[in-house]
Amino acid sequence: MEKDILLILRKVSEEMGVKSYIVGGYIRDKILNLESNDIDITVEGDGIRYALMLNKILNGKIEIHEKFKTAKIQADKYTFDVVSARKEYYTHSGILPDVELADIVEDIKRRDFTINMLAFDIKEGMIIDLCNGLDDIKNKLIRVVHDKSFNDDPTRIFRALRYSVRLDFKLEPHTELLLKQSIANGDFDNLSTDRIMNEIYLILSEKNPETIVKLMKHYRIDEKIFDGIKINIRNLNTCVRCGDLLLYRFLLFFYNVKKDDLDYLNEKFNFKRQYTKGLSDLIEIKMNLYTLKDDIVAYNLFKDKKIEAINAIYTMEGENIKKIVDRYFEVIRSLKLEINGDDIKELGLRPSPIYKKILDNIYYDKICGKIRSKEDEFERLKQYVEKVKRGEKI
Ligand code: CTP
Repeated sequence: MEKDILLILRKVSEEMGVKSYIVGGYIRDKILNLESNDIDITVEGDGIRYALMLNKILNGKIEIHEKFKTAKIQADKYTFDVVSARKEYYTHSGILPDVELADIVEDIKRRDFTINMLAFDIKEGMIIDLCNGLDDIKNKLIRVVHDKSFNDDPTRIFRALRYSVRLDFKLEPHTELLLKQSIANGDFDNLSTDRIMNEIYLILSEKNPETIVKLMKHYRIDEKIFDGIKINIRNLNTCVRCGDLLLYRFLLFFYNVKKDDLDYLNEKFNFKRQYTKGLSDLIEIKMNLYTLKDDIVAYNLFKDKKIEAINAIYTMEGENIKKIVDRYFEVIRSLKLEINGDDIKELGLRPSPIYKKILDNIYYDKICGKIRSKEDEFERLKQYVEKVKRGEKI
């Protein structure tokens, strides 16, 4: 398949009469023998036309971004990002650059680290290594090529840590010095909170986020971006039994956040709704942990909370809490009533919100162990319906 892809790319290149290159992470990963299906292609010419021709052959799904002269193709397991070779001007630190067409050398030079600066010339079938990226890969080093790299784009600070842990590479000493200076100089202040959070999500999606977050702490990045709110560095590599892994790890990351910090964080970072709900659920559960003694308390505390928040509690707390959470997931949550609204209707009550109230009450009785069979459920149901008919509160 990979050979075929090269042939196809060569064909598109030739038909258009332009040079094109596979660049960045895909080449790095191939050299390291790592699986990669994200192929970045730089075209010395009209990238969008190139992508359209490529997709005609691949028959995938294509997304075009006229403004940036880029296109994305999803075909089979591969994602192709096609860009027109460009030179970028950083107007201010951290702000997305202006775009101007240029050739491949300029395109390579604007990149973050030497290991990402390799380009594979599709027509010639050879690697272009302008900045000794091959040596750095061999020596397992992350190195910037110019001193303003982190200042140009401070997200590269996160990227450096991510690559160093993922690939088990070291920061080359001068690069580490520049990274420290950039943090100390407050370059993060130039990044939008969206871009910061995007980097945090990328970190939390890695295989080993815990080591990366420990490095964030080591370089005191957390102090700069979260204004003194202490992030958690434990258990970040764990997975969940159910729910969304990224949300779960996000909640572990912010496990130490206090109620008072929540509004501040939400306002500054404008988290997605379910993340905000997850955090406030987590905080509420934590504040009530001391009350967790039996199934019924667990049910009341957990029933409307995000599963990921309960999972985070499970991971971070001691054996007693773990046992209660286990029971909640394995027994209580799977308890189902055998009766339903139809049974209430047959007893002569007109459908209304009272149905839910009755069923909730019976469910609650079941968790408490007061109801053990379908007959018990019916018996209880009749009692509630009678009460409602008599106009009594239930
Ligand atoms: N890049 C950069 N500066 C950034 C982001 C990206 O110079 N702040 C460049 C890098 O050269 C990188 C390329 O853009 O190789 C593509 O970015 P991305 O897809 O994020 O990187 P990959 O190297 O493909 O890394 P990953 O394996 O994490 O996807």
